[in-house]
Parts: sequence; structure tokens; C-alpha cells
Amino acid sequence: MKGVILAGGLGSRLRPLTLVTNKHLLPVYDKPMIYYPIQCMLNAGIDEILIVTGGEFAGDFLKLLKNGKDLGIRHLEYAYQEGEGGIADALKLAEDFADRDKICVILGDNIIEGNIRKAAGDFFTQRSGAKILLKQVPDPERFGVVRFEDDKVAEIIEKPTDPPSDLAVTGIYFYDNDAFEVCKSLKPSGRGELEITDVNNYYLNRGDLTHEVLDGWWTDAGTVESLYRATRYVAESGANHLDMAETAPPLFKESQ
Ligand code: DAU
Repeated sequence: MKGVILAGGLGSRLRPLTLVTNKHLLPVYDKPMIYYPIQCMLNAGIDEILIVTGGEFAGDFLKLLKNGKDLGIRHLEYAYQEGEGGIADALKLAEDFADRDKICVILGDNIIEGNIRKAAGDFFTQRSGAKILLKQVPDPERFGVVRFEDDKVAEIIEKPTDPPSDLAVTGIYFYDNDAFEVCKSLKPSGRGELEITDVNNYYLNRGDLTHEVLDGWWTDAGTVESLYRATRYVAESGANHLDMAETAPPLFKESQ
């Protein structure tokens, strides 16, 4: 399984900070934001990674990460998204990199305390489809939210004004190769973006979407409040355990 980190978008909610660099390079406690999704991939045994970015500071990623070897990334690629057409628009750029393998996708501003290794292993043995990771939150209206019927996921609603549950869809997803055709078939939403929630609802409607609830804390870091929260969580919880030298052995090779 390969890893895709989506780090495009203009980070307009973090201006003026994002007037001089890309949002995902801003500090979260003692490390650039992008280190956390990278470490999350490595902890799950995924060491072939594509970073999709965009905007005028895309070159800063190369300055920071170079070829990724210092961080324990075996193979690092970059792709450039024109504009900010949405998460599913950015994902389209990963098709050649994926080369028909299953992929783990992490949004570049998502930070977790725990480890997704078990979920990655579960998806590796899932015959087809997609898997999403959920987390209980106090402010579900900010996220994609799950509506349950008889304990089963019935629908995912993007930023509902009246959330049907407090379970948010985190920015960690697992997909089979069909995701790319789905992304290409999408129409922009009301906010002018290709929505990842539409991709997830496609798999749900085809009966091929599984989910797990994430252990430990989870936060995004795309607003001033959530960036501050992320820094506090990392500082206080010892999630600053991130030690690039202590990466898990690679797993989930298609040949295994
Ligand atoms: O954080 C989880 C949430 O992320 C989910 O619950 C939502 O369903 C999902 O739509 C998304 O919501 P946001 O509105 O918070 O997404 P945002 O526009 O902040 O983008 C999150 C990341 O996705 C961003 O850090 C980089 C990447 N991205 C985003 C856009 C719009 C791209 O790579 N390209 C883009 O065009």
C-alpha cells in the first residue's frame, strides 16, 4: 500500500501566516505540520509517499524534505495541484503514483496521537472498496459527519448545519484504485470543490465502505484555533514522541 498526503489549498484561514509559506510547513509545537502525517504513514509501515501540494510556496517542501531519506521515507514523490479545486481534485493527481495499488490518504493538516497501523492492516486484507476513520468531536458541524441508521452508516454529510451525530470523518482514508474514476466523475459542490465526502458516499452506496473509530486524540490544524489546539495536544500529550529514527518496519507491499 502506498501513501498520499494532500497538502494543497491556499490556507486562507491561516492568513497572514500563510502569506509567506505553505500552511503545512507552519510549526506545530517543535516540528513542521507536514512531519505529523508523514510520521503517521511511517508508523503504519507505509514508506512510499506522494505529497500533493500547490500554491506559490510549493518549492519550500523540497527545501525541507528533500528526497525524504532523513525522515525514513524510502520513496518520496511530489505532485502540483493547480488552484484549490478540493480534496478529491488533489487526489486525482495520485493516480499514476498509485499504479493500481491500494492507497492510504492523509490530509496534511490532520494530526493524531495514536497509530493507524491496525486500520491499514485491516484495509490491506479488505477485498475492495474504502475505509474511513471516525472520531467523536464536540463541533461536528466543521467536518464530514456520519448519519447512522440501525447502527449502520447510512450517509456522510459534509459540514451539516444540524449534525446527525458527533462522529466526524477524519482526514485519513483508505481507497482501492476505483477512487480515481470516482474523483474524475464528480461535480463541484456548492463551495466549488470536488468533495472527498462524495467519494466516500459513492463507496457507501456501493456497499463497500468500512469504518473504524480512531484511538487517542485527533485534530485538524487548518484554523488559528485548531492550529493552537494541535500545538497544545502535541506538547502536553507527549505525541512529541515523534522520533523520525524510530520508524516501523515497512509493511503492506503488494508482493507480500
Ligand atoms: O479534517 C477532516 C475534514 O477535512 C473532513 O471531516 C471533511 O469531510 C473534509 O472535507 C475536510 O474538511 P476541511 O474543510 O477541513 O478541509 P480543508 O479545505 O481545510 O482541506 C484539508 C486539507 O486538504 C488541506 O490541509 C490540504 C488538502 N487540500 C484541500 C483543498 C481544498 C488539498 O490538497 N487541495 C485542496 O484543493
